Amino acid sequence: MEGQGRMATPSTGRTPAPSAERLHQDWDELSRFADPDLDGWTRTVFSEAYQASREFIRGRMEDAGLSVTVDAAGNLVGRLAGRAPGAPALMTGSHTDTVRSGGRFDGVVGVLGAIEVVRALREAGISLQRDLIVVDFFGEETNEFGLGCLGSRALAGDLGPAHFDRTDPTGTHLGQRYTGSGLDPDRAMTADWGRREPIHRYVELHVEQGPVLEERGSEIGVVTAIAGIERLLARFAGRQDHAGTMPMGDRRDALVAASEAVLAIRREGCGAPVYGVATTSRVDSQPGSPNVVPGSTSLYAELRSIDPDWLSSAKQRLAQEISAKAAEYGVAAEIEWRHDNDVVPADPDIQDVVAATADELGLTWEAQPSGATHDAAHIARLCPAGMVFVPSQAGRSHCPEEFTSTEHIEKGVRVLASTLVALDPL
Ligand code: GLV
Ligand code: MN
Ligand code: MN
Repeated sequence: MEGQGRMATPSTGRTPAPSAERLHQDWDELSRFADPDLDGWTRTVFSEAYQASREFIRGRMEDAGLSVTVDAAGNLVGRLAGRAPGAPALMTGSHTDTVRSGGRFDGVVGVLGAIEVVRALREAGISLQRDLIVVDFFGEETNEFGLGCLGSRALAGDLGPAHFDRTDPTGTHLGQRYTGSGLDPDRAMTADWGRREPIHRYVELHVEQGPVLEERGSEIGVVTAIAGIERLLARFAGRQDHAGTMPMGDRRDALVAASEAVLAIRREGCGAPVYGVATTSRVDSQPGSPNVVPGSTSLYAELRSIDPDWLSSAKQRLAQEISAKAAEYGVAAEIEWRHDNDVVPADPDIQDVVAATADELGLTWEAQPSGATHDAAHIARLCPAGMVFVPSQAGRSHCPEEFTSTEHIEKGVRVLASTLVALDPL
């Protein structure tokens, strides 16, 4: 990687020194906001626990000295004024919503970490030239409407009417969920202030959510690209019959056709040439009675890769294979693909600055792609964007066991702080 050793020294000659103790305390407090009826930590996007937790984040932002607003898309936006008003701002942040029965670190590292950066900058007497904007993006995790990164999408001008028309498995529209939680979909679509206010650079700190850093003994991940995502909704129409009397050879079983699809999707992921994965997450079958042959089945899956060619060819192969297999069972398959995000390369200069910063701080680092998606994938439409990873214990994430030590988080926060300082000069 070129450009190592380019880390700028702040004007004060001091390096921001985040406090592990404060980070630990913030974690403890935020972790209290979770749905008590589910395992692990659950703060899904439209839940009460999430809403309550954001009041806490707002308070922490204000205590750190940020001026805080909530935009029409639900993003919590804190701003630290710089010395050069009008200069394109630096932006950092992530999300504090979780998957169901999720963990305490995914997204949270980037929000609480950014707030600690602000405190550490102030303590070190470092005042940036540019404004520093810290965002707790609304609803990053993919919801039951099959859409994630709601807030960062809106900020980048990519949240449109078709998104609000999406339905969840119960037939509710995303727009209705917004209205039900006090957000106006029409206003949310106009919250694209990131297209009006020039942003200089965006850097997001996040847990790796995979095993690579821990396996290689590296403290910091320098993200090279964020995987693209294509989501599949396959509907299988067979024939509902008596499960005790219809001979096996005469059935048109929608669930059997869907099961063949689950395995075809897995084979496609296992055969991906570079980084690629394929996951079926849900199969709903009707009528669901023990004595009835399933007449209709819906299957939800996704493909992810950093190779756009593999994504498009895998889509075609799967559509053909799923339909052909279903036909063997006398079942019709309707295939709908929903694009989530493109493959997004991280900005090469930001990668260099993060790597050089880690070197200067004496931390070991590894360049790596991200299989998880992030708000950075959307903010990259607005300005050069990059990411810093810290290790995830045993590579576990999206589960209650997700864990990253405060020691590792503190190192990531140090890299984030010094990277922002290095990117600040006008
Ligand atoms: C978010 O965590 C995602 O990768 O879907
Ligand atoms: Mn995340
Ligand atoms: Mn996540």
